Amino acid sequence: MLSAEMNERLTRVGPGTPAGDLLRRYWHPVAAVAEMTEQTPKKRVRALGEDLVLFRDGQGRLGLVEEQCRHRSASLYYGFIEDDGLRCAYHGWKYDCTGKCIDRPFEPDTAPIKDSVRLTSYPVQALAGVIFAYLGPDPVPLLPRWDVLLREDGERKLFILPELECNWLQVMENSCDPAHTYYLHGHTLALKGQAARGSYYYRPIKEMKFQTVKEEAWCGILKQRIYGGDDAEEELGHPVLFPCMLLSPQREHLVLHMRLPVDDTHTQIFRMQFTANDHGKPQPQPETVPVERVASLKGEDGEYHMESFASHDAMAWETQGAITDRSRENLGVSDQGIALYRRLLREQIDLVEAGKEPHGIIRNEAINQRIVIEVSSSQRRVAKEMAGTS
Ligand code: FES
Ligand SMILES: [Fe+2]
Repeated sequence: MLSAEMNERLTRVGPGTPAGDLLRRYWHPVAAVAEMTEQTPKKRVRALGEDLVLFRDGQGRLGLVEEQCRHRSASLYYGFIEDDGLRCAYHGWKYDCTGKCIDRPFEPDTAPIKDSVRLTSYPVQALAGVIFAYLGPDPVPLLPRWDVLLREDGERKLFILPELECNWLQVMENSCDPAHTYYLHGHTLALKGQAARGSYYYRPIKEMKFQTVKEEAWCGILKQRIYGGDDAEEELGHPVLFPCMLLSPQREHLVLHMRLPVDDTHTQIFRMQFTANDHGKPQPQPETVPVERVASLKGEDGEYHMESFASHDAMAWETQGAITDRSRENLGVSDQGIALYRRLLREQIDLVEAGKEPHGIIRNEAINQRIVIEVSSSQRRVAKEMAGTS
């Protein structure tokens, strides 16, 4: 249970809020490279409560700037792409990828462009078909190079889910909550006669283990399920990468779930799926990682259709409320992963408030060459065997 005050402290993401200031210290996914084409070089992005425009100038360079023009605040989403920037559609002021105003067509040449005419802009970097942004203070940390984003011994595909109408912390708490899989996923699918799809999770859980990790390469919560039964295998833990990611096996895939806190009451999930080939050797990679937008998680009647894991999870997260009221909850022993995550979050917020660097920020180039985190492979093997027999 949390006081209403602590709940606010841990959940709000806007500029100047405790959690918002912490979340700004990390890189976040904001778009797919495959969706920023020559035909669609502009995209509205809402991240951490800020309205932004992502654009590619005529030379292919990416810029992420505040949406409202510094002249008289028209939306730059409607601007014209030019070789060296984005020109506002209202009176034609032009900005480069760093937000600098480089042209004001109806002003005399003698009037210098003041620094205050600069748009707020944020660094962006593309990796594995994802465009990541950093909305925090300098110095900018390294964009983490997770192994799952770099591997070439298989195929990669990016899924973008419908925007969720709930606060980001509900999604992250779920990642520290292995007990939910038995009923929400396993039982739901078994009742629908889809036992094979849910059966990995439809096994008695004998024990759950949790561990907080604070290493130089990553920080987060390692969670592990120990299943009962004679054939039970010890699976490795699934790492929750603080603050907003989960690395987990999913059937024969390895999946990096990346959650963008859009604003206080919305969350956008980007799901990077990597499928290893059978021979373990590098294979040719496409120029751009393909992207698929997942269709609605609800049916025509407006209710969750509960046909997919994503629909199950969305039902749980959104029905908890836009920002769930944690003063009415009753946590049990099985919720200890959630308690650990909250403690980790509180500690990192406190560090930032004290003017210190939170954990999970990477500044060491050598470590960042490739960050490998072992995750369970037994689940993938079981899933493959089941897929072959069902
Ligand atoms: S509002 Fe953008 S140029 Fe005037
Ligand atoms: Fe789930």
